[in-house]
Amino acid sequence: RKPVKLGTLRKMHQEGEPIVMLTCYDATFAALEDEAGVDIMLIGDSLGMTVQGHGTTIPVSIDDMAYHTACVACGNKNAFVLADMNFGSYLVNEDEAVRNAVKLMKAGANMVKFEGGLEVCPLVGRLKQIGIPVCAHIGFTPQSVNAIGGYYVQGKTASGEEKLYQEAMALQEAGADMVLFEMVPAEIASKITKELRIPTIGIGAGVGTSGQVLVLQDILGIFPGRKPKFSKNFMEGASSIQQAVANYVQAVKSRQFPTDQHSF
Ligand code: KIV
Ligand code: NA
Repeated sequence: RKPVKLGTLRKMHQEGEPIVMLTCYDATFAALEDEAGVDIMLIGDSLGMTVQGHGTTIPVSIDDMAYHTACVACGNKNAFVLADMNFGSYLVNEDEAVRNAVKLMKAGANMVKFEGGLEVCPLVGRLKQIGIPVCAHIGFTPQSVNAIGGYYVQGKTASGEEKLYQEAMALQEAGADMVLFEMVPAEIASKITKELRIPTIGIGAGVGTSGQVLVLQDILGIFPGRKPKFSKNFMEGASSIQQAVANYVQAVKSRQFPTDQHSF
């Protein structure tokens, strides 16, 4: 297949083709995911949990993110590479945030992602000015789990819904190329997606977003003790890891995943 570029993603969005995103942290899985047809590989700061064994994403450093981004970029041929900015790398100091985003791009990212709403809009604008595409991440934002107080669905109340809507619109206006919704009621993610020009990606946000993302270890059923409602073990009925990833791709492309069972 041809390399997936930002233009490819925009075209998929325009034509209503679901965008398949999956987390990836190393070169062998990058080759496998690329082969299986994953559109976007996300070097998620979830690597703090899946790779490093921490309980949250808080301890992850920018060097960790750059290292895993470089590993993925080496194994990948054609997928789009999206790298997370880690906790503490973008809201402390804006110049430092720009330098950290540059590090991830130099490591092989095609776009960076960070959590937050109105407070990150100025940074979105600055990164766009120097040629760095941005995916915003709103709804449940794991880097703020200590402040949120637990793993709660966001946007359930009328004021919560309004906040999500305002954030998504402001991020689009600031220049974000994509918005990711985590743990948001399906109906609200779908409604906001229709109001936006840019594609949306969901995790625990229902089937009405422009694309889906899951954590690699979750779809392979190899995350001991962790079974989020919004995930699915695609090893069930698959004879290999390659096939499980291909089945995930197929399920998202055909909108058979997620179902109500995986949504809020
Ligand atoms: O870090 C991550 O893997 C993520 C996705 C779960 C959206 O941000
Ligand atoms: Na993340």
